[in-house]
Amino acid sequence: MNKATTTGINRKDGRAKVTGAAIYAAEHQIPGLVHGYLVTANIAHGRITSIDTQTAAKAPGVIAVFTPQNAPPIFKPSNDFMNSKIYEARLPLSDDKIYYAGQIIGLVVADSLERARHAAHLVKVEYATLQPIIEAKNAKFQESPPMLGEEMIFEKGNFAIGDFDSTMAAATTKITATYTTSNELQAPMEPHAIIAHWQDSDSLTIYEPSQWVLGSQRTYAELFGLQKEQVRIITPFIGGAFGCKAFPWPHGILCAAVARQLQRPLKVVLSRRQMTANTGHRSETEQKISLGADADGKLVAIDHAVKSITSPVDTFTEPCTIITAAMYAAPNLRTQQELGVMNVGIATFMRAPGEAPGLWALESAMDELAWELNIDPVELRLKNESKEHQRRGLPFSAKHFAECLRVGAQQFGWQDRPKQVRSLSREHKLIGWGMAGASFPGLRDSASVKVRLLADGTAEILTSGNDMGTGAYTVVAGTAAEVLGLSVEQIRVKMGDSLLPNGGLAGGSQMTATLVPAVIKACEEVLKTAQVATAQEAFNILHQSGENAFEATASSAPSDERKKWAFQSWGAHFCEVSVDEEIGRLQVNRWVSVMNIGRVMNAKTAASQVRGAVIMGIGQALMEQCLFDPNLGYPVVYDLATYHFPTHADIPRIEVTFVGKPDFNFNPAGVRGVGEIGITGVSAAIANAIYHATGKRIRDLPITPDKFL
Ligand code: MOS
Repeated sequence: MNKATTTGINRKDGRAKVTGAAIYAAEHQIPGLVHGYLVTANIAHGRITSIDTQTAAKAPGVIAVFTPQNAPPIFKPSNDFMNSKIYEARLPLSDDKIYYAGQIIGLVVADSLERARHAAHLVKVEYATLQPIIEAKNAKFQESPPMLGEEMIFEKGNFAIGDFDSTMAAATTKITATYTTSNELQAPMEPHAIIAHWQDSDSLTIYEPSQWVLGSQRTYAELFGLQKEQVRIITPFIGGAFGCKAFPWPHGILCAAVARQLQRPLKVVLSRRQMTANTGHRSETEQKISLGADADGKLVAIDHAVKSITSPVDTFTEPCTIITAAMYAAPNLRTQQELGVMNVGIATFMRAPGEAPGLWALESAMDELAWELNIDPVELRLKNESKEHQRRGLPFSAKHFAECLRVGAQQFGWQDRPKQVRSLSREHKLIGWGMAGASFPGLRDSASVKVRLLADGTAEILTSGNDMGTGAYTVVAGTAAEVLGLSVEQIRVKMGDSLLPNGGLAGGSQMTATLVPAVIKACEEVLKTAQVATAQEAFNILHQSGENAFEATASSAPSDERKKWAFQSWGAHFCEVSVDEEIGRLQVNRWVSVMNIGRVMNAKTAASQVRGAVIMGIGQALMEQCLFDPNLGYPVVYDLATYHFPTHADIPRIEVTFVGKPDFNFNPAGVRGVGEIGITGVSAAIANAIYHATGKRIRDLPITPDKFL
């Protein structure tokens, strides 16, 4: 490893971001741009009986009003994950039915945002209301269907090996407990926004934050009956996305459809309130876990049964059991996923979908079992380390979970931990220490990268894959600099445009593992083309010949390694909390995370990813929830002030250490990925620390003060 990778270069896009030079979707300036504002339903279930747009249409500046009565034409896409996925299978304005509060029922177009918003409130709607299902206790649950196919991220949730019931009955030590999580919002800094610009009736340019530009390109093409080459998606910067900006949402589809109808460039920006209803969330979950162990603390049986919530408009399972068969070895193992339908918008992917809530439950249960067995929870995890993925029957590649546990324990000073609850205090506050394991799969897609060595002494790296704030620009630049023998300043990276070579999906923590092997290959290729060892020699040749550039394109793709190995990243969190029981105040004082993610491409941005994820996990543990009004069904979160998440004052110093080795079974660069693993296990580590501090086991998230008072 050279300097760039070991020390961690600064963010390539940092200056553009802090100076405002980075242009986000809603900021693109298009001549003749008009503005759309959504009209949304204020009942959660029923049907529109009348919709009166006359006053709205006559309001100042209004250009057009669209409702189900004059819905613009849209084609149904195949809506399968690999081709043309949309988040909500129901197309916007497709009929008069209302399935959830906040559902889009119209769009007002005007010459300014303010005039469009004003007119949107003048649309008069009457409804025939049906009783909505807003609370999980009223939902009917059924076995979850498989999601994304067997080879993809989430298989069918129901799975069993061995004989759980009889083993559990015979186990010497056992625990059974039910854990819950709340609805959580992605709440990215950059709101959902889109500009749709039709150059003519069959050529569409879209500016929209997209985690997957070529996926969006295909999907918008299908929605409007176009060839994919007729659609261009431009998304150079994304102000945060956690799974909620991977596919088109109804507002984006409607914006593009209306822009085509009007033949004018149209912008739609969602308000925070609209985002709470219309752009996905992490479903609440209820998870029952049973663990059985023998007298030595070896797990003999694990059962994990999960309920989550979906919407009438599409199906999404929060796949909590995805981690259960991977995490710990147990000869008798059973998982079950059930799904209930409520009158809410569709739940969707949110940072470590499945693993984050799944490990909340499993890592809390492991702590309960450790207390029951009177074993150190680190020791319990070491004793039960899985050698293979019990569902896939494949050995783990480059697994260093034990090292994460040992290094973390040592850094934290875990050996000094008092073995009793309520045994540590400081300044009249109870102190507790907790820990939990972390894990997330290593995923990878195919990618192509083009490299150009230019006569001006710079190199250009081109790929459609994008940076949603994770550090992808920086990792690509650092990798290219290393192979080409250039400084990072000599590298220009262009990403986030569907005209560029396929750069894969920024999701499933796979962008680094997808892009880096292709960047390395393309850089090697261009040196070969120029018949030189370093880019500098190529620049000299260009100078002498007067030619413009050397260029090369290379691709890399997974092959059959997934048939031989299970790829999974691992980690451990250790934390200290202080609890003031008198006033119900909880503070996280100290945090240590140790991660094994294969080769670390950039220590600085990788550590930032873990820190950001730990902060998000602290939010999940202590604050974040989006409740629905039980009568109206509308989310009671209106904005970023009513959605409680951590501020700086809530966050301690977070020490991040990477251990382990490059995973060369996975790809030639040995790199896995780091976007999501950091959030997994965080909420359990905190609840486990609260138990150590107070003797109180809290099994429901978020752990708001009322729960430990
Ligand atoms: Mo992530 S939930 O795969 O964007």
